[in-house]
Amino acid sequence: MYYSDEVVEEVRAGSDIVDVIGSYIKLQKKGANYMGLCPFHGEKTPSFSVSGTRQMYHCFGCGVGGNVFTFLMEYENFTFPEAIRHLAERAGIKLPEEEFTPEAKKRADRRMRLFDINKEAARFYYAQMKSDAGKPAYQYFKKRGLSDETITRFGLGYSDKSGRELYRYLKARGYEDEILKESGLFTFDEKRGVYDKFWNRAMFPIMDGNSKVIGFGGRVMGDGEPKYLNSPETMIFDKSRNLYALNYARQSRKSYFLLCEGYMDVISLHQAGFTNAVASLGTAFTGLQANLIARYVKEVYITYDSDGAGQKAALRAIPILRAAGISAKVINMKPYKDPDEFIKALGAEEYEKRIAAARNSFYFEIDVLKSEFDFSDPEQKTKFFRETAKKLLQFTDELERRTYTEAIAKEYQIGFDMLNRLVNQYGSAEMPGEERKEPVYTERKKQKAEGGLYTSQKLLLTWLTTDPALLGKVKGIVTAEDFTDEFYYGAAKEVFEQYEKEGMVTPARILNRYETKEEQAKAAELFQTTLLGELDEGQKAKAFAETVRKVKQSSIEMRMGRAAETGDLEAMQKAIAEQAALNTTLTKAGL
Ligand code: UTP
Ligand code: MN
Repeated sequence: MYYSDEVVEEVRAGSDIVDVIGSYIKLQKKGANYMGLCPFHGEKTPSFSVSGTRQMYHCFGCGVGGNVFTFLMEYENFTFPEAIRHLAERAGIKLPEEEFTPEAKKRADRRMRLFDINKEAARFYYAQMKSDAGKPAYQYFKKRGLSDETITRFGLGYSDKSGRELYRYLKARGYEDEILKESGLFTFDEKRGVYDKFWNRAMFPIMDGNSKVIGFGGRVMGDGEPKYLNSPETMIFDKSRNLYALNYARQSRKSYFLLCEGYMDVISLHQAGFTNAVASLGTAFTGLQANLIARYVKEVYITYDSDGAGQKAALRAIPILRAAGISAKVINMKPYKDPDEFIKALGAEEYEKRIAAARNSFYFEIDVLKSEFDFSDPEQKTKFFRETAKKLLQFTDELERRTYTEAIAKEYQIGFDMLNRLVNQYGSAEMPGEERKEPVYTERKKQKAEGGLYTSQKLLLTWLTTDPALLGKVKGIVTAEDFTDEFYYGAAKEVFEQYEKEGMVTPARILNRYETKEEQAKAAELFQTTLLGELDEGQKAKAFAETVRKVKQSSIEMRMGRAAETGDLEAMQKAIAEQAALNTTLTKAGL
């Protein structure tokens, strides 16, 4: 759902940040601001500051900051629209209804019906499990060490032997065959009629991130094939973009997730207090799932089965996670097969130790690589080092690569110089018969050179929003177009527009335009006055003038460059004139 700027601003303005944050953490008035213990990092003395006038928060300890939306997105893991809906409800603001085309409305209705069916089915299976007929399932869960509390928390259930009951139940509640068919919970057979897909199985409802049941896994209570039967994909059940127990893990407040293979592993871990465990849904881990995880944490501990298949699956998951910006570690559970068995045998405390000892994913990859070579054979050993050198090239950051090269050299007892030379050979493709790797540093170097310029642009924006009088001073001199960084351009445009229309700037409002946490964090940084340091008036004026000059100068140069490239004479002349006048213009404005 897309909300208009007006609606977003209405909700923000109607949600006092001191009120909202104060309902989560204890705030104390200190001067113009409120202080409290930062909920985003552990601390004993308050460094988390909330400003009522600016409607922003900022932690001097860990550097987080933003407006009321950012706070809820961070604290509750809400998406931007979710934060808006939450605050609108809190403030009693009625949000506009979504306008549907007839087809879209039909689709939305069908989705709703499917959610309803799955919810009803989960309730039905749960009630069955609690009934006499469901004793076998209840006992099965008990035998596997699950407490009543865990069984309820995960909504575990039982599908009875007859294979007809759920269908009867839902028919009696008025669901038509057409939508029941689409739910994937039934088999429609011309001759035999309609049957429940799941019968005589221990049932595991699968929920999405918002705790809505979207499908089921059903396990045989003993031996039999298949061990787990899963709902087929439906309009609401996409196995590649959901994770088992994400609804709980997202609330766990840990900085990492535990990634498991199986439903039972997840449940065991949650019962043992590791409520940050998730699993994919009977299919291989996907990039979409990695992106989903990246919304909540930047680190994942893989805790797949200890066998060869689990190891292979981990090797596949690592690059997928990496591509989503998540760093991975791999937990060793040997001699136990999976986290479920490990916890049962050794308990939570020992598992905690395994988490602490988890192998960084790169070392894990090298460990597996090593197991493929016979070190008593010099030729194989050489091959191993060559492969390792190639792998080291994945680190584009020089320092990082060096650190890893050192560590590997030490661990596998090959001199650093030797291994490093191999890495460099592959890096510059002096190796005969090897394809050349692109030099990996140029892009970074470029970024660094431009970094200084972007810092000036950021600084200028911070000045302008902190002290609106300065906006008057640069009026007619600095425009949004002078911010050559696209992100800062967007922010600057908003700042100038607000000033133009209202003669003032509301920092918290500028954040409205950003929907992801990353963008909001970046924008929030603009309003952290700590950037400006402690300067007296004279120093301030000088620093500000310098910043304006830098930004103007590079903006003119940029336009000249572009005009030269495109052969746009008019633009070139304009830029040259501007350059010639720059000194006078700035001096006139007292800069
Ligand atoms: P496992 O067999 O490792 O699962 O399969 P598990 O949770 O450890 O099972 P038990 O109950 O302790 O024996 C891992 C996952 O693969 C999927 C399920 O999602 C399972 O949780 N799977 C496995 C299936 O979808 N079908 C199967 O037949 C087996
Ligand atoms: Mn298991």
